[in-house]
Amino acid sequence: MIVGQSLVMQKLRADVIRIGATNFTVLVEGESGVGKELVARALHDVSPRHRGPFVAVNCAALVETLLEAELFGIEERTATGVRGRRGKFELAEGGTLVLAEVADLSVAAQAKLLRVLQDMRVERVGGHSIRAVNTRVVAATNRRLADQMQTKRFREDLYYRLSGVELCVPPLRLRRDDIPLLSRHLLERHRQAQQMELGTAALDALMAFDWPGNVRQLERVLERAIALGPGSVVDVSDLPSIVTKGYRDLVEDLPTGSESLRTWSSRYVRGVLRRCDGNKRKACDVLDISYHTLRSHLSFARGATHGDVQTP
Ligand SMILES: Nc1ncnc2c1ncn2[C@@H]1O[C@H](COP(=O)(O)OP(=O)(O)OP(=O)(O)O)[C@@H](O)[C@H]1O
Ligand SMILES: [Mg+2]
Repeated sequence: MIVGQSLVMQKLRADVIRIGATNFTVLVEGESGVGKELVARALHDVSPRHRGPFVAVNCAALVETLLEAELFGIEERTATGVRGRRGKFELAEGGTLVLAEVADLSVAAQAKLLRVLQDMRVERVGGHSIRAVNTRVVAATNRRLADQMQTKRFREDLYYRLSGVELCVPPLRLRRDDIPLLSRHLLERHRQAQQMELGTAALDALMAFDWPGNVRQLERVLERAIALGPGSVVDVSDLPSIVTKGYRDLVEDLPTGSESLRTWSSRYVRGVLRRCDGNKRKACDVLDISYHTLRSHLSFARGATHGDVQTP
């Protein structure tokens, strides 16, 4: 189940249903841990092939010499002691084959893959016969394949073969409104006997973090909180410091109660501006305010430093 209430995820779910019904090769792009394999799985589940096998292979984990045998199979006694086996293409017969980290294939392997995709026929290593395969291929990558192609690390013809239909899974930091729902879903998935809840402050901290490792990182953080936390409510103190640092900086910067909202927000605006290296446009983007509002905060701050607006 692809969880997420953000507009991009709603659109992605609709795309999966639409594209899943077809037989097109799909390219799923997105940073590490965003849920590319989950999307591939969803494409399979909604497709007419859903009763067939779902086979995923990580191209980055394959040693060049074993790659061909792994993908296309190998005949018995090709070399001394070699046992014959089917490759992933054959194993995914009637179903879906996910080629994860497809950008990591060597250029030689890319050529072999292209040939198979063009003909939908495979020849096992050491074999003499060619078998037709009926497999739907979903390729996934955390690098932009178009860039890889431009720098000649990825074959242009294979790129066009794979990217007929592209789905992009955005990083979690660009869809923060998914964090509450995702966190509850992941807590439910990983909880032990007792039900788990997320404390308000813990949720604030999760929302403030940038999640370079995306949903997988969120999942690990919550698993850890479940395992190590004392109760049924996840608290900020159950989260690793790397996650809570930004949140704590913000909270510890909070007024002690003697400051007006205007004074505090003006101070906060200046803090953000400093973090943006003085770039006012960038600060406006981060704060989601107009240039005019930013200037009014800054001129207020100048007044405040002259001592005329401090509240007792
Ligand atoms: N939208 C989502 N809803 C529910 N679970 C999600 C979602 N996105 C990701 N996950 C979960 O996060 C984890 C990582 O997802 P997945 O393996 O699909 O990511 P990936 O993009 O393939 O990662 P990698 O780049 O490392 O291969 C999985 O446990 C997956 O179930
Ligand atoms: Mg993956």
